[in-house]
Amino acid sequence: MSGKVFKVVAVSGSTSRPSRTLAVTEALLSGLRTQLPVEPHLIELGEIAPVLSGVLSRPDAPAALELQLRAIEEADALIVASPVYRASYTGLFKHLFDLVHHEALIDVPVLLAATGGSERHALMIDHQLRPLFSFFQARTLPIGVYASGRDFHDYAIASPELLARIGLAVERAVPLVREASRFVSPVAAKVA
Ligand SMILES: Cc1cc2nc3c(=O)[nH]c(=O)nc-3n(C[C@H](O)[C@H](O)[C@H](O)COP(=O)(O)O)c2cc1C
Repeated sequence: MSGKVFKVVAVSGSTSRPSRTLAVTEALLSGLRTQLPVEPHLIELGEIAPVLSGVLSRPDAPAALELQLRAIEEADALIVASPVYRASYTGLFKHLFDLVHHEALIDVPVLLAATGGSERHALMIDHQLRPLFSFFQARTLPIGVYASGRDFHDYAIASPELLARIGLAVERAVPLVREASRFVSPVAAKVA
């Protein structure tokens, strides 16, 4: 048993609170924490939005935002979740990842999640989120988690099906996160 503690960064892409996306993000993060030694880092887009929205290039990022970008770039694994806005992730979610170095996520496992008003945009995970993280050459995990309005009561998860899906996503993520942490790609090492 290595004593490795996994740096897991979770990004919740909602700009409002309370937030269903945040509830799913936190459930995924705490699920991983039950099965792996994890150093968790949660980024809520709503909290960094006032600064993030005014930063158009990385050198302009103030220290507090730079800290969050570094956390993403140095993560052993990411959980990324966004509400569906107009059939995609939110503009600010994309803007955050536009500021992340294009080689910093090579081979990093990324667990994808989204919430929407209805079931109709469940494929946002595979049609929008997955290609974005494929661009980064990240290892997008096979099981994504999608939740719609009826999975929640007062912004808390209320559906056994959603909890089961979260459990499955976590269970499937754990061996892949362990495996990825043993593999350091030459490009990733160079970037670091
Ligand atoms: C500007 C805007 C656009 C939205 N577009 C969609 C959409 O295209 N498809 C959908 O299913 N839900 C859509 N919704 C609903 C949200 O995705 C849904 O309520 C989500 O769970 C909100 O997440 P939050 O509680 O974390 O903020 C939209 C909501 C807003 C505010």
